[in-house]
Amino acid sequence: MVALSVFLFLEAVSLATAAPTQVSNDSSPWFLANAKAGVSTLQQWYNQTTGLWDTTGWWNSANCLTVLGDLTAQDSSMVNASAAIFNNTFLRAPASTLGQAVWKTNSSKPATTLIETKGFINEYYDDEAWWALGWIQAYDLTHDERFLDTAADIFDDMTSGWNATCGGVWWDKSHTQNGAIENELFLSVAAHLGRRIPSKMAYYRDWAMKEWTWFWNSGLINGGYTINNGLDLTTCQNDNGTVWSYNQGVILGGLVELSKLVNDTSYVATAQKIADAAIEALSDSNGVLTESCEPDCTGDAPQFKGVFMRNLQALYQARPEDRIKQFLETNANSIWQNDRGDDSELGSVWSGPFSSADATTQSSACDALVAAAAVA
Ligand SMILES: *[C@@H]1O[C@H](CO)[C@@H](O)[C@H](O)[C@H]1NC(C)=O
Ligand SMILES: *[C@@H]1O[C@H](CO)[C@@H](O)[C@H](O)[C@H]1NC(C)=O
Ligand SMILES: *[C@@H]1O[C@H](CO)[C@@H](O)[C@H](O)[C@H]1NC(C)=O
Ligand SMILES: *[C@@H]1O[C@H](CO)[C@@H](O)[C@H](O)[C@H]1NC(C)=O
Ligand SMILES: *[C@@H]1O[C@H](CO)[C@@H](O)[C@H](O)[C@H]1NC(C)=O
Ligand SMILES: *[C@@H]1O[C@H](CO)[C@@H](O)[C@H](O)[C@H]1NC(C)=O
Ligand SMILES: *[C@@H]1O[C@H](CO)[C@@H](O)[C@H](O)[C@H]1NC(C)=O
Ligand SMILES: *[C@@H]1O[C@H](CO)[C@@H](O)[C@H](O)[C@H]1NC(C)=O
Repeated sequence: MVALSVFLFLEAVSLATAAPTQVSNDSSPWFLANAKAGVSTLQQWYNQTTGLWDTTGWWNSANCLTVLGDLTAQDSSMVNASAAIFNNTFLRAPASTLGQAVWKTNSSKPATTLIETKGFINEYYDDEAWWALGWIQAYDLTHDERFLDTAADIFDDMTSGWNATCGGVWWDKSHTQNGAIENELFLSVAAHLGRRIPSKMAYYRDWAMKEWTWFWNSGLINGGYTINNGLDLTTCQNDNGTVWSYNQGVILGGLVELSKLVNDTSYVATAQKIADAAIEALSDSNGVLTESCEPDCTGDAPQFKGVFMRNLQALYQARPEDRIKQFLETNANSIWQNDRGDDSELGSVWSGPFSSADATTQSSACDALVAAAAVA
């Protein structure tokens, strides 16, 4: 608390010098300034050559792209700079080592030659969908049809995964897992595209409805209204696996889009129940979101909480419940006060203390700051 008021005082002084207009105690500029500082630090990991964010993986970079887009949606002065990043990533990422480019040694030259890329298609349907959502956001900001076309191509590829043993889409093209995340993403991408491609609205709507009907009946949503990791491929029952935060998140944005697509607010009411159950299950006693593996989360997990916050923002905007706004602001404040290192680096445990940051922890925490700014 002391640290916060000291910082606010300094912030107020510097803002007052920069602009003579009165600095109001309105949380919106406070959260937005922090979000911009956090995203600016995230961009220090952006690699112009690969079009990806160093220190993190392929699908995580799609989430970095998305949080940049979500911030840009709140600050139109960023549009051209962000569009330059979108353009660069669009062209470069598929040819990077993490992309699925096919390189061939050219016998007539010592160097290798790029034969073809597979764009944003790879072996994992969930990876594909993160990119689709990122490109849809980039399309919303730039109206560049290439981005929407790419998302539509990705979705078409995802439909080829629709014959998993227990129903829905497979997680991967090797057909090893049948779980929550890829199916939530499938719903979300379909519903988003349905609202943006009028000529194929019915196609996307039917896929979105088919997915939701399956998901609702699949057993993935447990009796406590939280969502487990996946299905047991032998019994097709809920595997009682970890309740990861992102599995409570992607579904919220998917249901919000579906409700707009078919004009039925009951989907938003269902999303609200899932969100409330998740907040109850995953918050600490101060209302700060946690991941069950903390403080030792490794690999993909440090990305997850931001995905929840991003989608909670979408839910709040469709159905403004004060407790959701409070939750977003509590988390953004905790990150800024307790989980921040030098140069606005943000770590993975939002209650602190700060230990280290990379593009995964940074983009995830930025999702929370951006969401708080959006609702403040
Ligand atoms: C605004 O002021 C109130 C009380 O004066 C304080 O509790 C709150 O933290 C302030 N909020 C911001 C964002 O400055
Ligand atoms: C960008 O990525 C390339 C390829 O992985 C790497 O060689 C290069 O060092 C990176 N650039 C920076 C500034 O880290
Ligand atoms: C973005 O670039 C366009 C075209 O150059 C220009 O007209 C516009 O003013 C720029 N917008 C911003 C916010 O800088
Ligand atoms: C992005 O690429 C498109 C298509 O080439 C171009 O029209 C647009 O001006 C580019 N935007 C920026 C900011 O470079
Ligand atoms: C190999 O390099 C030569 C000379 O640059 C070029 O003409 C040829 O198309 C290349 N082969 C492949 C397979 O890219
Ligand atoms: C799913 O479809 C693929 C391609 O159409 C096929 O190879 C595979 O056997 C099917 N799997 C199941 C479980 O039906
Ligand atoms: C998960 O728990 C439920 C309720 O206890 C049980 O019915 C189900 O069989 C369990 N799933 C597996 C795969 O064991
Ligand atoms: C959406 O549904 C509401 C309530 O049923 C109805 O009043 C409204 O006209 C509908 N809007 C559209 C665009 O269909």
